[in-house]
Amino acid sequence: MVTAIFPAAGSSTRMGGGVNKNLRELMGEPILIRTLKAFSQIERVNFLIVAVAAHEVAQVEGLLRKTEELKPWRVTVGGSERQFSIANALKLLPSDAQIILVHDAARPLVSARTIEDVIDAAEKFGGAIAAVPSKDTIKVVDAAGFVKSTPPRRELVSVQTPQGFKRELLLRAYAQAEADNFLGTDDASLVERLGARIKVVRSGYDNIKITTPEDLAVAETFLRSGNK
Ligand code: CTP
Ligand code: MG
Repeated sequence: MVTAIFPAAGSSTRMGGGVNKNLRELMGEPILIRTLKAFSQIERVNFLIVAVAAHEVAQVEGLLRKTEELKPWRVTVGGSERQFSIANALKLLPSDAQIILVHDAARPLVSARTIEDVIDAAEKFGGAIAAVPSKDTIKVVDAAGFVKSTPPRRELVSVQTPQGFKRELLLRAYAQAEADNFLGTDDASLVERLGARIKVVRSGYDNIKITTPEDLAVAETFLRSGNK
């Protein structure tokens, strides 16, 4: 069975407005609820864990309680970094969770196909991440602002979530990161440190992370264009 973890405990600095962006409405429904519904539609997903700031736990529990169509869930307290929010959520893993998905609450447009593909690849290879080919040329830059090198674009992907892992592998990766004081920018980077292989699963360019105010308009455009 699959447990999905949703970090939603950030400070929404780039979005601004002084509220948790995941609780903002996108076409009449909070972003967090849209995200949780997307995963609740997947048969193999049987448990959801949401990490939010301590002062939001009661509010979010109330919101989830009145939402039908959700798989069984728990709300927990997040940490000062995304990685710490997920580490906290991992403490609530049910014993039947063989595959763990981590998904940014702020990516409500994720497709069922992407979720299914990441689960399949995680079962097969141990670790899998959703990604799209990089549209931009990416350059490595030095501290003074000069270009050091240009990696070939065909080898580059922009990484999204969900990221999925076998239970034992992800728990070991988080324990090792904590022991080493390693802070990664995604979950796979913690697993990569163990030398494990991670399969890259092609996702869609519409699986955006709602980060700045313009992203709300972009997400609304995708929603209006159908199939979401
Ligand atoms: N997140 C979290 N705990 C943190 C930081 C981030 O659970 N300490 C969550 C966010 O709530 C979000 C996801 O991780 O759902 C991706 O992070 P990001 O888009 O960077 O959100 P924020 O950190 O809230 O935004 P910003 O960086 O602009 O402050
Ligand atoms: Mg952040």
